Amino acid sequence: MSATAELGAAVLGCGSIGPLHAEALAGVEGAHLVAVADTRPERAHSLAGRYGVTACSNVDELLALPEVDLVCVCTPSGTHGELGNQVARAGKHVVLEKPVDVSLEAADGVIAACAAEGVVLSVISQHRFDAGVIALKEALRRGDLGPVVLAEARAWWYRAQSYYDSDIWRGTAALDGGALMNQGVHLVDLLIHLLGPVSSVYARGKTAAHKMECEDLALVSIEFESGVLGNLCVTTASYPGAPETLAVTGSSATVVLEAGSVLSWQTDESSSYDLDPGPRGAGPSAASAAAGSRNLAVTAHRAQLQDVVDAIREGRPPTVTGADGRKALELVRAAYDSFCSGQPVRIGLEKAAG
Ligand SMILES: NC(=O)c1ccc[n+]([C@@H]2O[C@H](COP(=O)([O-])OP(=O)(O)OC[C@H]3O[C@@H](n4cnc5c(N)ncnc54)[C@H](O)[C@@H]3O)[C@@H](O)[C@H]2O)c1
Repeated sequence: MSATAELGAAVLGCGSIGPLHAEALAGVEGAHLVAVADTRPERAHSLAGRYGVTACSNVDELLALPEVDLVCVCTPSGTHGELGNQVARAGKHVVLEKPVDVSLEAADGVIAACAAEGVVLSVISQHRFDAGVIALKEALRRGDLGPVVLAEARAWWYRAQSYYDSDIWRGTAALDGGALMNQGVHLVDLLIHLLGPVSSVYARGKTAAHKMECEDLALVSIEFESGVLGNLCVTTASYPGAPETLAVTGSSATVVLEAGSVLSWQTDESSSYDLDPGPRGAGPSAASAAAGSRNLAVTAHRAQLQDVVDAIREGRPPTVTGADGRKALELVRAAYDSFCSGQPVRIGLEKAAG
């Protein structure tokens, strides 16, 4: 493939999020959708029909297509590592939906396979591309907040029991995890992205309001290596749900993001950040997120997939790497260990490559 050739992209898993990848890819420069696959053939045929591309009924059929250069893995979370491994071994680039997998062993396996095959691996964390997150990251880099002391992230979301009953993998330890692994991992990745490596967590979790194997409520107290303290509260049991928030405060400023947009930006010089249409306009509106089951905008996925395609063409790592996905998973797994032991759990004692 030449540096200027269009990449052939494929979507593996045509359930809820797979079609959004297909829609996002339609607006990505340098790549176009060529095939989709699902073990439920009617889902693959329906999505393929919409875009006029090839429908496959399993991963082997998909990987046998020479026109496929890149595969977006949109299957249940506990299958990401193994399927990503197969994609890499076929010499194709890999995008894994979040989380990278539910097990660190599976995450390490796919990271190693991509490195060995020389293919790009990215894990979806689309909210890194929200305008408010980009503005806050830049402000932290410049030191605008002064020494940071505290970060607090909150997702009071709602999922009806019918969501967990809609498929056998949902809410299970082997294939999904609970509110922290599935929904909370977005905020976990953002906290690490903004505030750096984590040294320990102390967490409590419970299944408060649903019939499911894993937690629908998690409280995680975080200590970053920098000494900053953080707090994360995630639930899918909060009716009717609210847009998620992420706040960072330091000795010179306090910034609060809501659903990826700047809600308030208070500094010692001005009471409020200039809330121009950039930061507020680019994220989903509070109204669209208010139900707590965000009506997912395609924009952020499209931005991340564009970054992945650019990374492949420019021979650089993508903005969100496999190692980034592993760091978020490592925090979630440590929190799960803390749920069980009732003790703080140290993180990062063995660092993964990749
Ligand atoms: N980034 C986000 O905001 C976001 C939002 C929703 C879901 N997700 C993630 O996307 C993944 C899928 O979630 P979903 O809600 O779309 O699930 P889903 O159950 O709606 O869809 C998954 C699809 O994968 C298919 N599938 C399962 N195993 C397969 C295999 N081996 N080969 C081919 N197809 C297979 C299923 O038949 C199903 O159609 C999860 O990891 C989830 O965490 C991310």
